[in-house]
Amino acid sequence: MNAIRLNRRPEWAALTKHREQMADTHLRELFAADPERGSRYTLEAGDLHLDYSKHRVTDETLALLRDLAAATGVAELRDAMFRGEKINITEDRAVLHIALRAPRDAVIEVDGENVVPAVHAVLDRMSAFSEQIRSGRWTGHTGRPIKNVVNIGIGGSDLGPAMAYEALRAYTARNLTFRFVSNVDGADLYEAVHDLDPAETLFVIASKTFTTVETITNATTAREWLLTGLGAGQEAVAKHFVALSTNAEKVADFGIDTANMFEFWDWVGGRYSYDSAIGLSLMIAIGPERFREMLDGFHLVDEHFRTAPPEENAPMLMGLLGIWYDDFFDAQSHAVLPYSHYLSKFTAYLQQLDMESNGKSVDREGEPVEWQTGPVVWGTPGTNGQHAYYQLIHQGTKLVPADFIGFADPVDELPAGPAAHHDLLMANFFAQTQALAFGKTPDEVRAEGVPEELVAHKTFRGNHPTTTILAGKLTPSVLGQLVALYEHKVFVQGAVWNIDSFDQWGVELGKVLAKRLEPVLTEGRGGEDLDSSTAALVSTYRTLRGR
Ligand code: F6P
Repeated sequence: MNAIRLNRRPEWAALTKHREQMADTHLRELFAADPERGSRYTLEAGDLHLDYSKHRVTDETLALLRDLAAATGVAELRDAMFRGEKINITEDRAVLHIALRAPRDAVIEVDGENVVPAVHAVLDRMSAFSEQIRSGRWTGHTGRPIKNVVNIGIGGSDLGPAMAYEALRAYTARNLTFRFVSNVDGADLYEAVHDLDPAETLFVIASKTFTTVETITNATTAREWLLTGLGAGQEAVAKHFVALSTNAEKVADFGIDTANMFEFWDWVGGRYSYDSAIGLSLMIAIGPERFREMLDGFHLVDEHFRTAPPEENAPMLMGLLGIWYDDFFDAQSHAVLPYSHYLSKFTAYLQQLDMESNGKSVDREGEPVEWQTGPVVWGTPGTNGQHAYYQLIHQGTKLVPADFIGFADPVDELPAGPAAHHDLLMANFFAQTQALAFGKTPDEVRAEGVPEELVAHKTFRGNHPTTTILAGKLTPSVLGQLVALYEHKVFVQGAVWNIDSFDQWGVELGKVLAKRLEPVLTEGRGGEDLDSSTAALVSTYRTLRGR
């Protein structure tokens, strides 16, 4: 796609030069020079209000970054994605998560076929099934209604539904219990089911490929647990197991009736899939209408990304700002700090979305990149992080660009009492970006009467870049908007870096080696060619295991 290598482009050279000019620029100066900066450097995407004024950028920086996006064909690649072209080149697949939330009358074609009717047909089946569970009409093998839903999946087949369930917990059917099992460590499944009644439990087996060893292992054990608990045979599976997959054959092999399978397609990447059938457990939790509201939220930001001009385009801007720090300031990481406890799994979800997409070191032509690609994404909800690792962001040696996500209205229904939880939370939210940007000078510290020997310790150099994302309330729609915002941000970065953001070959080697090691661990068979470290570790493990 990009014939000229990224770091040989004149736009790259212009940014490198500009970075040198910006080396000593402090946010204090940028704000002093422009009283309107705080209102000028903002934009709206759907219901999301973005403030990017606390970034080490000027109008010139932003123009140069947009020039880079234009030169590297970000808009063209975006349009190719929306047209259903096979932009996932190493797997020869279209990338069409945007079709999952398209309205019923939209037309989006893959290989000449409109995929939207199939998307809505599955959504309709999911809705009917969800209503059956929610109303108690779907009964288990013994005739009792389902009260517990256990989602078994990993990666995109777990993180999305688990994150969104937590995010939208206030909207869930509180009479139902939801659990999410992902780890092949038996502790995960054990803790999820040991206090449940199998007669009232539905397992949702979520796996795009239906070959993922963790998921199939957990699903097999869950089936055993169910049948033993019910004292029933295979015939009980139909009432207690459903599958979410692209692979009907493997689903049938496992013993799940394909009538109980909700399908999706190879043009949906695992980490982009929770708004597909993979969201079934979420739909059972919040109901089909709320789920549709969430999809409409996604769609709103899809349309914003597709149509907003670059200077008003939130994913474009966030992607480019990330590149500015990643490639020109050598920032190695990016913090996402939601000031909502309901978003406690949001950053973990983004880790897969971002790091599995853009953790690449060869470009689309297979040449090693000579520039930084995706950052390490990390973070936990405020204010907890403030009492843990914010110290490093404020006064450490590293540059950590951060996104602060907050809401005007709380979702919880705590009665208004003497403690104004939400305003206190949000006061911290605003205070942190203020402190990070402007810091505290030695003179300001001295003026407080601090003894000279402590002045350096109590000085905050500031100039730490942050984006503030503010919305009215964490509703299903707003969650969809937030996720789409980050999906497209990741897209923009991958396009500029000229990498394939939609494959994940990096997870393969570990899988193959684990498969080879398993018989060495269990039976001491094979392993002659192991390196000396792994051989010694395996031997110690076997001894400790009493083998
Ligand atoms: O980690 C690799 C990966 O393929 C992810 O991309 C995916 O989300 C996860 O494994 C689970 O895959 P599946 O849904 O096929 O079980």
